Amino acid sequence: MSVAVSIAEEIQELKHQRNAVLLAHHYQEAEIQELADFIGDSLELARKAQTTTADVILFAGVYFMAETAKVLNPKKIVVVPDQNAGCSLVDSCPVEPIRAFKKLHPDHIIVSYINTSVEVKAESDILCTSRNAVDVVRSIPADKPVLFLPDVNLGNWVQKQTGRQNMRIWQGACIVHATFPARRLAEAKSAHPTAVVVAHPECPPAVLAMADYIGSTSALITYCAQSDAQEFIVMTESGVQYSLKKNSPEKSFYFVNNENCNCSECPYMKMNTLEKVRDALLNLAPRVELSAEIMERARLPIERMLAIQ
Ligand code: 13P
Ligand code: SF4
Repeated sequence: MSVAVSIAEEIQELKHQRNAVLLAHHYQEAEIQELADFIGDSLELARKAQTTTADVILFAGVYFMAETAKVLNPKKIVVVPDQNAGCSLVDSCPVEPIRAFKKLHPDHIIVSYINTSVEVKAESDILCTSRNAVDVVRSIPADKPVLFLPDVNLGNWVQKQTGRQNMRIWQGACIVHATFPARRLAEAKSAHPTAVVVAHPECPPAVLAMADYIGSTSALITYCAQSDAQEFIVMTESGVQYSLKKNSPEKSFYFVNNENCNCSECPYMKMNTLEKVRDALLNLAPRVELSAEIMERARLPIERMLAIQ
């Protein structure tokens, strides 16, 4: 019996003992997705966290996702495999400048991407994910000015989709998607001329301009599964291969390397390992602990988003 199999068995047994649910984002290692009770994008995982009846939520993703799950479940135990699994978008948007902006511009509606700290969420009027950002911005009365934060590429794309002019956009970026060079995508298109290009909206405008379809992580996976095309160039994190191949084993998926790591992997998402998943269940730690006050304030903008279908 291989070591990996025995750890997998331990995890299954611990999940049962703890009455735990393992929620995994599509960017997790395949071996973690294999053991997950639910795999999804950030919106689907927030919705799953909202309705779970488990006593323990083990969130295999990045920290802001687990914080969101905790806000929605203040009484449950929420654990993560690695509490240092952060996100460059969260780092790009500290809470102090947002508080200062609100003082200067009290008329603005703050629309925050879910990729923000719980403190920033607490200062926001409504949240969004890449899946519903266009609908969220459309839900705000046209005469109200908007501050959209923190992803500049998502913000620009949403502005283009909605035609909204009274929208300021924070200048944060994802270290994975924002560093996919259009030049490398052009090379991939030359190498695979019949491939359909699908892209996450965190990619730069020059990449999005070459895409046949733009959508959230799960939207890209569904699009590839339903399309008649046989080949795809996929401009997002390569963990999505797991579901792409599961849905359509006969199709081909090509990934483009970014400038940072010459790969298409999120270094934060990949901090989680099977061993850390096992240890989190065993020790019920590292645990997400938040004050009642911050959870109370962050819940409303999250629930406003979840109410938009
Ligand atoms: P999704 O909302 O598509 O899951 O994206 C989350 C994320 O971190 C993208 O890099
Ligand atoms: Fe954050 Fe980018 Fe990683 Fe998503 S892929 S968690 S946005 S750093």
